[in-house]
Amino acid sequence: MPADAARLQPARVFEVGPRDGLQNERVLVPVEHKLELVERLVAAGLHDIEIGSFVHPKWVPQMADTEQLARRIPRRPGVRYWALVPNYKGYERAVRAGIDHIGVVLSASETHNRNNLNRSREQSLEQIARVARSAVDRGHTWRGYISTAFGCPFEGAIAPEQVIEIADRLRALDAAEISFGDTIGVATPRQVAALCRRLIERFGARRIAMHLHDTRGLGLVNAYAALECGVRIIDSSVAGLGGCPYAPGAAGNIGTEDLVNLLTGSGFDAGIEIERVVDTSRWLRDRVGVTPSSKYFRYASARCSA
Ligand code: HMG
Ligand code: MG
Repeated sequence: MPADAARLQPARVFEVGPRDGLQNERVLVPVEHKLELVERLVAAGLHDIEIGSFVHPKWVPQMADTEQLARRIPRRPGVRYWALVPNYKGYERAVRAGIDHIGVVLSASETHNRNNLNRSREQSLEQIARVARSAVDRGHTWRGYISTAFGCPFEGAIAPEQVIEIADRLRALDAAEISFGDTIGVATPRQVAALCRRLIERFGARRIAMHLHDTRGLGLVNAYAALECGVRIIDSSVAGLGGCPYAPGAAGNIGTEDLVNLLTGSGFDAGIEIERVVDTSRWLRDRVGVTPSSKYFRYASARCSA
């Protein structure tokens, strides 16, 4: 622990690599490797891990084995395993597999919602309301994702008012937190800061997460803009893997090792051992056959071979 750890502020890193990262990989990663990936992330200190999704296996075959994975992961005190669901059917599958932390998704853009979920936003909100009611009855925790919160591959720029309107609906359903997705990585730090300020004023910082894809290289700067405004939950993906299969051109999330490096350098502590995250990215490259894109990984690898 750094000497000045007492002065560091806590931040929460929400790891989406096993879901957002692997859903977009061309290779189908065997369940044994996914299991080891999650175990490695836990060992690195990650406490919120989205292990997969319960979507239609025909649309996203990479996630077809999430049931098996969820059943096999050893539960550990203090570690929350999350899964993404697109509708009530997905929620039922998650519950049967023993998952009690649920991410539910819809888009700010109507066209992206239809492409991603084959439903209108209103229809998705009806599904989310059903999930929310059941989750509350069963004592489960759920977060809402609002995709295309800054821009849509089909509709272009998205007005903050459109995003806030949907966030209001999710809050009215008692979402524990809402993660705002820059699905295609078009946000700028000014836009992120402007939206974050309005969101914090409305909902409080505790309920807001940022989910930033790094398509144009602004992911980390955008994360910093959000931190400066008071946001303390940032989604990231080990090795910088990821993308949305229904958002053409979307690149990976900000890399977990890059985010941890940013947090440490900016006075935050998320309780994560960066070298273990780097080891996990190396293992992903050498054993699983995926290509890390995180900058810190490249730096650490170059240092090792120097
Ligand atoms: P659909 O075909 O419209 O579904 O798909 P349906 O309700 O009409 O039902 C058709 C069949 O699918 C039925 O089976 C249902 O039972 C079945 P049949 O009676 O024909 O045998 N079905 C399901 N099966 C398994 N799991 C389910 C499920 N639901 C229905 N959950 C659906 C609608 C939403 C399922 C489909 O469009 C889908 O799976 N979409 C998911 C796409 C996806 O995974 N996108 C990526 C994740 S979102 C993301 O990455 C963004 C995020 O990272 C934030 C950001 O970056 O902004 C979160
Ligand atoms: Mg995403």
